[in-house]
Amino acid sequence: MTASPTEDELQAGFDATIGRNDRIEPRDWMPEGYRKTLVRQIAQHAHSEIIGMQPEGNWITRAPSLRRKAVLLAKVQDEAGHGLYLYSACETLGTSRGELTEKLIAGAQKYSSIFNYPTLSFADVGTIGWLVDGAAICNQVPLCRTSFGPYGRAMIRICKEESFHQRQGYELLMTMMRGTDAQRAMVQESVDRFWWPALMMFGPPDADSPNTAQSMAWGIKRNTNDDLRQRFVDMTVPQADALGVTLPDPDLRWNEERGAHDFGQPDWDEFLQVVKGNGPCNAQRLAHRRRAHEDGAWVREAAMAFARKSREQEASA
Ligand SMILES: [Fe+2]
Ligand SMILES: [Fe+2]
Repeated sequence: MTASPTEDELQAGFDATIGRNDRIEPRDWMPEGYRKTLVRQIAQHAHSEIIGMQPEGNWITRAPSLRRKAVLLAKVQDEAGHGLYLYSACETLGTSRGELTEKLIAGAQKYSSIFNYPTLSFADVGTIGWLVDGAAICNQVPLCRTSFGPYGRAMIRICKEESFHQRQGYELLMTMMRGTDAQRAMVQESVDRFWWPALMMFGPPDADSPNTAQSMAWGIKRNTNDDLRQRFVDMTVPQADALGVTLPDPDLRWNEERGAHDFGQPDWDEFLQVVKGNGPCNAQRLAHRRRAHEDGAWVREAAMAFARKSREQEASA
């Protein structure tokens, strides 16, 4: 009989896997902190996909043409699919989708702060695709190499769809910018509202992000918040120029020495308020999600009853 490995041996095996940049799979031993961090991060990510359907869903019935409606419907449905991949990835860590949903609607788990801002004009559909999905891509491409297998594999599928989302947003804005003065003004006003909240999507500055170092050591995160924010700004500035919109930051300029853009800081007090639940739409988003969950109770009950009945029939056959 072989003795079962000690905690130290298990930890050493885990460390070696991380050190080789190999993936940890659901049945592998993992430290409790690693599991908890992943559940928190993947759940937050899944909730963001699902809550993120609301601000854009707001415009489906008012899309200006059949083509725009079809594109928007497809995009919002993709986000539902992203949520499901991610809830499934989280379930491999021993927590159920039902449990995660209960935590979300009780306000015990977070989702991205960006979805607590309202969508006031149809240009917002374009701006969200361009800036919000664009920021999501910056965040998510490195996560395709994250150390937990199911999370990384979900991200690969999600990233392919996110680039379609970004393009449809940019194409919509480009069409509006070629339109009337009123349409151009609508785009600029929308970009003015979404620019700073988009920068907040990368999370607080590195100095105020105490969990980053551990998450990077575990290979969960591959870049710091500030690195990703810089990457996003550098990617977006030439796109804004091509579009003909002004980014609302007087400190934004190219820094020859750094080979990168300097830019101003978002209002971090506003960010904290939104994260705490005091953003413009927090209450509305959660109330809507709660209502949808309650309205869907009969579907869950019917599915459970059907499964029970099928089992009973099989057992008696
Ligand atoms: Fe998504
Ligand atoms: Fe998306």
